[in-house]
Amino acid sequence: MEVVPIPVDTYKLGFIGAGKMAESIAKGVVSAGVLPPSRICTAVHSNQSRRDAFQSFDVSVLSDNSAVVEDSDVVVFSVKPQVAKAVILQLKPMLTKRKLLVSVAAGVKLKDLQEWAGNDRFIRVMPNTPAAVGEAASVMSLGGTATVEDGELIAKLFGSVGKIWRADEKLFDAITGLSGSGPAYIFLAIEALADGGVAAGLPRELALGLASQTVLGAASMASKAGKHPGQLKDDVASPGGTTIAGIHELEKAGFRGILMNAVVAAAKRGRELA
Ligand SMILES: NC(=O)c1ccc[n+]([C@@H]2O[C@H](COP(=O)([O-])OP(=O)(O)OC[C@H]3O[C@@H](n4cnc5c(N)ncnc54)[C@H](OP(=O)(O)O)[C@@H]3O)[C@@H](O)[C@H]2O)c1
Repeated sequence: MEVVPIPVDTYKLGFIGAGKMAESIAKGVVSAGVLPPSRICTAVHSNQSRRDAFQSFDVSVLSDNSAVVEDSDVVVFSVKPQVAKAVILQLKPMLTKRKLLVSVAAGVKLKDLQEWAGNDRFIRVMPNTPAAVGEAASVMSLGGTATVEDGELIAKLFGSVGKIWRADEKLFDAITGLSGSGPAYIFLAIEALADGGVAAGLPRELALGLASQTVLGAASMASKAGKHPGQLKDDVASPGGTTIAGIHELEKAGFRGILMNAVVAAAKRGRELA
C-alpha cells in the first residue's frame, strides 16, 4: 500500500498504553496547542484510574486498543517493552501504511517493531522522564518508509514535551546510557549536594531547594549561554577561591571519570538487555 501523507491539520493521535509516558506526551501536546484533546485518544488496559488521568484533560478513552488504532492516523505504542510484541502482533491487520507508527518502548529495535507490525512506516523515539515536566531530552530514528514529513510531525509532537534530536538507531544504547538513565544520576547528585549542605550546617529543606535550583540554573546556562561548559566553569572559579577548592576535591575523587563510567555502563547494560 502506498504511503499517503498524514493530514497535518486534522490528523488524530492515539496511544496504545495509557501510562505515565503517554500522559506526559498527551498533556504536553495539548498544553502547547499542537493538538486539541478532541484529536487524541487512548484505551485503558486494566488500571481504571488511568481513565480519569486522561479524561481530566478531555482526551477520549475508547473501549480497547483496536478502537484506538481505527480512530488514529498516528499510533504511539507506549506500553512496556516486554509487552510490545504481543500488543503489536494483535493489532497487525489494522496497522496499514496509511498510519504512522511510533514506539517509545526502551530497547525495542525498529527491525523488530516493523516485522511485528508488517509495516515499516515506523519511528522509534527514546524520551526520558523529564517529559512529565515538559523538559524531555528525546531522540528519534526513522524506519524504512517513514517520510521526512512524518519525522517533522513527530519532532513537533515530542518537541512539545522538551527537545528532540534525530540520530541513527545504532546510537540508541549510548543515548539510553546518557539521557535515558541520566535523570537518575542527577537526582543522586542533587541529593548528595543537599547532604553536603546539611553537613555544612544548612537545614535540610533549604539545602534541597538550593541543590535542585542550582542544577536547574546550571543546566539552563549550559544549554542557553552558547558557551562550552568548561568555559562556564572557568568563569566562576576565581584564583584561590571557594569554587576551585570544591572543584579540586571533585577532581581528586575522579568526578568526571565516574560520570563517564556511569554512561558507558548503562549503555553496555542496554545492549545486553536488547
Ligand atoms: N517513563 C519514562 O520516563 C520513559 C522514558 C523512556 C521510555 N519510556 C518507555 O515508555 C513506555 C511506557 O512507560 P511508562 O513509564 O509510561 O509505563 P507505564 O506507566 O507502566 O505505562 C504502560 C501502560 O501500558 C498499559 N498496558 C499494559 N498492557 C497493555 C495492553 N496489552 N494493551 C494496552 N495497554 C497496556 C499499562 O496498563 P495497566 O497498568 O492497566 O496494565 C500502562 O498503563 C515503556 O516502553 C518505556 O520503556 C518511558
